[in-house]
Amino acid sequence: MDRSEIIVELIQKYSSPPNLGETLFRLTEGSYSTGPPWTVKQFMEVTEQRNIQCIVAYYENQLIGYAILSVLPPEAELYLIVVDKKFKKQGIATLLFERINSYLEHVQVDSLFLEVRKSNEAAINLYQKNKFEKIGERKNYYSHPREDARVMIKKIERRKEQGLSTDTRDFMKRVRILAIETSCDETSVAVIEDGEKILSNVVASQIKSHQRFGGIVPEIASRHHVEQITLIAQEALNEANLSIENIDAVAVTEGPGLVGALLIGISAAKAIAFAHGLPLIPVNHIAGHIYANQLVRPLTFPLLALVVSGGHTELVLMQKDGDYHIIGETRDDAAGEAYDKIGRVIGVPYPGGKHIDEMAQKGEDTFHFPRGMMKENNYDFSFSGLKSSFINRVHNAEQKGEELNKEDLAASFQASVVDVLVSKTIRAAKEYGVKEIVLAGGVAANRGLRNSLSKAVEEQLENTSLAIPPLALCGDNAAMIGAAAYVEYKTQHFVDYSLNAKPGLELS
Ligand code: KG4
Ligand code: ZN
Repeated sequence: MDRSEIIVELIQKYSSPPNLGETLFRLTEGSYSTGPPWTVKQFMEVTEQRNIQCIVAYYENQLIGYAILSVLPPEAELYLIVVDKKFKKQGIATLLFERINSYLEHVQVDSLFLEVRKSNEAAINLYQKNKFEKIGERKNYYSHPREDARVMIKKIERRKEQGLSTDTRDFMKRVRILAIETSCDETSVAVIEDGEKILSNVVASQIKSHQRFGGIVPEIASRHHVEQITLIAQEALNEANLSIENIDAVAVTEGPGLVGALLIGISAAKAIAFAHGLPLIPVNHIAGHIYANQLVRPLTFPLLALVVSGGHTELVLMQKDGDYHIIGETRDDAAGEAYDKIGRVIGVPYPGGKHIDEMAQKGEDTFHFPRGMMKENNYDFSFSGLKSSFINRVHNAEQKGEELNKEDLAASFQASVVDVLVSKTIRAAKEYGVKEIVLAGGVAANRGLRNSLSKAVEEQLENTSLAIPPLALCGDNAAMIGAAAYVEYKTQHFVDYSLNAKPGLELS
């Protein structure tokens, strides 16, 4: 037998052979002197269960061995490990154990248990060889014939996720998260694999319905979400080429955002989770914006995130996944909010940020607006002074019948915002010695900011990289929610159906 021809793999539930239970039963029939421990029906039922994983060994397309595990982190139990009679004593069981080990290392399991008949010396030897130790006995655990069980345990060392070989990654079970985002005016559903790969990301914008009001009307937003959410969820699954059975968890934005809008996403997520027995993961919208960058490449810690959106402007220090420490934030308007307000004054459609950015490319900083809190020795921001200067300048000109160059106005406004954001970010990055700066939020789409920050990092920081999300992931979308949710999935941070919207939720 050519050992290099043996394939040992974790069965993917969504692509498992339809008669898996029966195949496993047949193989087991010939291997147990006492007959298979389960009936065909039991094999079929067990392999269908969500917490059950099967690892199989093939040789020349024939199933020659398998292991069935129940995995409920931080513990797992080995139900069965079986090798075809014809292939015994050839190290197949050891290969299966190696695969079990490398799988468990990555799913936050630290102990693997098993029970074995006390008289089954061959099996006990095999387990001991594979580093299992006896921890106890169960009296009369087995029937036909009645016998005690020996309980054994193997400690699994957790491995760092970084630096995995592709082989190990391929072997790990892929985790698919269905993510929902409805915090403001975008109805979005995405399917994300292992927190980093976008299988689909459907975003339905309602902005046209709000534009004539010059801002988001909460009632209209909720109504649109209700109409859209089911269709968008189905579209996200279709686009990912998956059905709900292939999904491992449902994630949803719990806040911050508009309460009515959030509630639609949360209700949909709960319904899907309940109907399909899936775990439910709440996600902070701002964490989502930060993790949008993980969809491009893995984050490097410690990192400093500059979060700039319609509702937030803050500098967030992160030592590790899911660990947020706000070192500075806006004392009044958020950067995006300031853009949208001055956009209204010079008559561009809502939201003004994108239009001002485009105009700014064609103008120059001739107005020299103030740089709010630029010189102050902290990491807070203020944009209301800038906004007032801008509005006063425009109104004064109107009163005098003076014509101002709108492109220069836009460029001057943008220069002030970008100067402050970039200089405080660079200063904080130096002080905290971060390895990476991450740009996040709707305003991350701003060309002036992207260019200035890239230049400043290149010129002023030697050992710090910069992550900027692609334009499609800067605005609100569910892909980023799925990416952030994966952090919670790995630590099994699930919640029950009492989950509620938290409009003022802060990063913690
Ligand atoms: O993150 P986001 O989509 O929604 C919130 O969570 O708030 O951010 C929306 C904000 C709006 O204020 C919008 O004007 C701003 O991002 N924005 C921009 C640009 N694109 C979007 N601001 C400046 N320049 C842009 N290119
Ligand atoms: Zn946002």
